[in-house]
Amino acid sequence: MQIGLIGAGNMARALARGWRQPVLCADPVFTRAQALAAETGGEALQSNAEVAERADLVVLAHKPAQLDLVATEVAPHARAVASILATVTLVALKHAYPERPVYRFIPSLPVEVRQGAVVQAADAPQQPDLDEQVQALFGSLGTLVKLDDSLVDAAMCLMSCAPAYVALVTEAQVDAGVRYGIPASAGAQLVVQTFAGTAELLRRRSYDTLAVRREVSSPGGLTVRGLDALERGGVRKAFSDAMDAVMHRAK
Ligand SMILES: NC(=O)c1ccc[n+]([C@@H]2O[C@H](COP(=O)([O-])OP(=O)(O)OC[C@H]3O[C@@H](n4cnc5c(N)ncnc54)[C@H](OP(=O)(O)O)[C@@H]3O)[C@@H](O)[C@H]2O)c1
Repeated sequence: MQIGLIGAGNMARALARGWRQPVLCADPVFTRAQALAAETGGEALQSNAEVAERADLVVLAHKPAQLDLVATEVAPHARAVASILATVTLVALKHAYPERPVYRFIPSLPVEVRQGAVVQAADAPQQPDLDEQVQALFGSLGTLVKLDDSLVDAAMCLMSCAPAYVALVTEAQVDAGVRYGIPASAGAQLVVQTFAGTAELLRRRSYDTLAVRREVSSPGGLTVRGLDALERGGVRKAFSDAMDAVMHRAK
């Protein structure tokens, strides 16, 4: 399936790297499109319309505010469209791209290393073979979860911002180690591997966070003191407030 990317920014690059196949792409900054195309062995094209003409699946990776403008160029030519635009609902997409298969996904940055979370807005079947191919394409980027379209924005606020949150928490943990003499580079390796390993453990324990916490927390031991300090520091409230702040802005 020939993929055509509209926009060659951060998320387009992450998707293309994850797909590991030559892509067609267009971007107002042609050198940006050229750089992405060169990385995948694909081709940068001069216009969005040209991408739409030559692609089997057009992937909208521009900004949400450009939906209508881009649709005037792309809709006359596109055979099928997949959107990753934040906050743009399936109804709005189908309005902009009538009478052809339209899919809504929200990816997260780790799709670049095929470890991303991807949300798909559930929809009635359109073209069963194509539906399957498109779902497999996005599913190849990590874990794909289908949700009702009304929940996709909340899911996006949960996981699309999370790479930044994890980076921040990593930095805080590394800095805490630096205060006790652990070199930042050694601390970063220890913390990042612990996060990655814990993610895998959680998967194997059916995402049972309490079970993992209990395994690490001996009664009266060290970890419970650390957890208590984090709770008193408001860690749950901080994450809850972050969700509210992002949802508020998304709306
Ligand atoms: N970043 C994330 O973690 C994330 C997660 C989920 C969903 N998304 C969605 O992914 C999309 C892209 O986000 P991003 O972070 O990759 O933004 P970005 O880095 O700004 O990329 C958007 C690209 O689209 C280009 N563009 C602007 N107008 C265009 C047009 N008319 N035709 C073709 N390309 C055009 C932009 O060029 P200029 O810079 O010159 O305007 C830019 O290169 C957004 O809709 C966002 O909601 C992002």
